[in-house]
Formats: sequence, C-alpha cells, structure tokens
Amino acid sequence: MKKIAILGSTGSIGTNALRIVREKPEEYRVIGLSAYRNVQLLARQIKLFKPKLISVKDVQGIKQLKVLVNLKGIKVFVQADGLGEIATHKEVERLVVATAGTISLVPVLEAIKAGKIIALANKEPLVMAGEIVMDAVRRKKGMIIPVDSEHSAIFQCLRKEDIRSLKRIYLTGTGGPFRNATRKYIRQAGPETALCHPKWKMGKKITIDSATLMNKGLELIEARWLFSVPEEKIEVLIHPEAVIHSMVEFNDRSVIAQMGIADMRLPIQYALDYPERKTNNLNELDFVKLKKLHFFKPDVKRFPCLAIAQKVARAGGSCGCVMNAANEIAVEAFLAKKIGFMDIPRVINSVLDKHIYAPHPNLEEILALDEWARKEAWALCYRL
Ligand SMILES: NC(=O)c1ccc[n+]([C@@H]2O[C@H](COP(=O)([O-])OP(=O)(O)OC[C@H]3O[C@@H](n4cnc5c(N)ncnc54)[C@H](OP(=O)(O)O)[C@@H]3O)[C@@H](O)[C@H]2O)c1
Repeated sequence: MKKIAILGSTGSIGTNALRIVREKPEEYRVIGLSAYRNVQLLARQIKLFKPKLISVKDVQGIKQLKVLVNLKGIKVFVQADGLGEIATHKEVERLVVATAGTISLVPVLEAIKAGKIIALANKEPLVMAGEIVMDAVRRKKGMIIPVDSEHSAIFQCLRKEDIRSLKRIYLTGTGGPFRNATRKYIRQAGPETALCHPKWKMGKKITIDSATLMNKGLELIEARWLFSVPEEKIEVLIHPEAVIHSMVEFNDRSVIAQMGIADMRLPIQYALDYPERKTNNLNELDFVKLKKLHFFKPDVKRFPCLAIAQKVARAGGSCGCVMNAANEIAVEAFLAKKIGFMDIPRVINSVLDKHIYAPHPNLEEILALDEWARKEAWALCYRL
C-alpha cells in the first residue's frame, strides 16, 4: 500500500487524484490532505479517506470543519505550516502537490529534503525557483514526477533514453478557447468566454492562463528546469485535438510521442504508480474515430504572453519569479473584471521591465521578489 498525501485536495487535480484512490482503496493510504477555503468538500474527503493530518486556511476554517466532521485523532494545521507538516510527515511516501499558486514552494523544498517522492502538478515552484528546486533534488538524489500532462508525456518519452541524444521537445497545447479568434475578439473577451476551455476542465487560474497561452509559457519554463533542457530546444506546437500530450525528437530524427485521452487522471495515476503502470477504467483512445490530427505554430502576436515567457525562459534568474507573480495578480484582476484580457501581458511586461535582474537569486530573494512583483502588479492594475 502506497502512503500518499495531497496538498490542494479540494482542487481539480486534488479531487481527480482522490477519484483514483477511491477506485483502488487497497493500493493507496491517504495520510494527509490540505484544503484552503473549501471546508465542505474537505469534510467529505475526511469522512471517506480518514487522513491523519489535515490543513485549512485559518482557525475559522477549523471551527467550520468541526461542525461538519469529527476531527478526533486527526492533527489539524493551518496554512503554510500545515502544508509543511503534511509534506514532511514521516509516513508520507509520495506527495501530490496540487495547490494553486506559489504557496507550495517552501513545502516542496522541505519535502525534497525529507526524501519524499513528489508528484508535481503545481508548476509555480519550478517557474519561480527552478534552479533552487532542481539543485535540491540533485543533492538529495530525490525525484519529481510531473503531473502536468505535457511534462508527464515528456517524462514518459524520455524514460530510459540518454538525454544527450535529445534534439528537441515538442510541447503541445490545444491553443485554448481563443485559438481561432481575431485580435479584436480577444481584446474584448471577458472572464466568461476566457473560462470556456475546449478540452480540459481545470481551476480558474490555469484556465485563464490557457486562454492567454501563458500556461504554455509556464510549462516551457517548467520543462526547461525539469528536464534540464535549454529554451531553444523546446518548441511549442498547437495541437487542438489534445491527443498527443507532447513529443520528443532525438538526434537520429526519431520522434516519440505520448498519446492518450484528455483526462488528467492518466498523468496523475502515472505519477502515483511510477515506475509501474497499473490498470484503470479510463476510456481507450479510438484512433479510427480520431481520423486526423492537426498541428500549428502558435501566433505570438495574438498571444503575447507566450513570447514573454519564451524571453523569460532564455533570461532565467529572477525573471521567472517576477513574471509568475505579475501574471497571477493580472489574472486575478481580470477575473474580477478590473482589467481587460490584453492588459494581462501589459502588466507582466511592465513589472518585468521595472525589476532589477538577479542571475542566481536565493530563496529569500525569490520570496522578496515575489512579494515586490505582486505589489507592483496590483498598483498597475489599479492604474489601468
Ligand atoms: N487542473 C488541471 O488540469 C491542471 C493540469 C496541469 C497542471 N495543473 C496545475 O496544478 C495546480 C492546481 O491546479 P487546479 O486546477 O487543481 O487548481 P484549483 O482547482 O484552483 O485547486 C487549487 C487547490 O489549491 C488550494 N489552494 C488555493 N490557494 C491556496 C493557498 N493559498 N494555500 C493553500 N492551498 C491553496 C485550493 O483549496 P480550496 O479549494 O479549498 O480553496 C485547492 O485545493 C496549478 O498549479 C495548476 O497550474 C493543473
């Protein structure tokens, strides 16, 4: 029985991970769960999975939880402390990191130091501090198994391959809800249209990132660190059918692709079971029904966020952290209808331009930069 914990158990990835666990109760034991605001759902999860540790946003959340479920025998924590406690608990073997945003950076580093295998969905730790995170993995001889479908695909394609023979990574993406939209339409788009993703059902932040193509940009930076590959070797390819989750080309021009239905349970289960591949009841890929697959180059003029991320991936250093923070605030402001869709790249560019570049920031500097960039981005959003 594999002992697991899930940070962000009430989100889209977290609930999908628990669906897998629920179908195979004999294979996984849930040690810890963390939620933020959704105590109703956490209460149901506690009843079903009986974790030993839980974490919520604040003391108010604990009070609400106590009304809904008996917490006797369960260790209860709040916020960042709670994530750290769960991430490093002695019984946890595999940690699913499915929180949204940047909150998991420190708990991820603590988990690596504590020797946990990490199933990483949350891309922000690598975008903000890829150098620090991967350095910790190397020093501890640890392991990060990606959950993001594209990175899971690349991870699977590179399995048992010599990374030195890698020519290029094709990072695929559907192109989001505005793939075929005109610039005018995109400029006027509000949260309602931007939140209608054609293929994937995900949390709000990542769905807006998919509409701006910043998600592909974040993934590019994530891949750059995870697989230790320079940005020039990672090519973004729009593939609307979302059947090929990414591909890898080798020096001999051989290309290996990973395919599957568009269901996050597939990469989540892979990360839970790796190196084994176990059965499940997901639908099979029907090639006859598929008939055609399409591929396009992304249009960075309509989607400037991708161009920003490509530049940031090349620059490295403090840029990833600043871009990520500014983007997070801009997306929040867009969702609150305070700024327009095309203001998102404007805010990110302005904050990036204003920041003082550091080539190898340490953790303290990263956290300070994150805070600074958020303040700058908010100020800009108000002005806009
Ligand atoms: N969804 C996908 O298909 C997908 C695919 C690839 C990668 N990812 C990545 O996986 C991560 C999670 O995505 P998601 O779509 O599952 O997000 P989501 O549905 O918004 O869920 C986020 C989870 O994090 C918790 N959370 C939010 N803010 C928090 C904070 N400040 N402190 C502690 N916990 C907090 C939420 O708790 P409450 O709900 O209780 O407030 C929830 O459990 C993101 O980084 C995303 O980029 C997602």
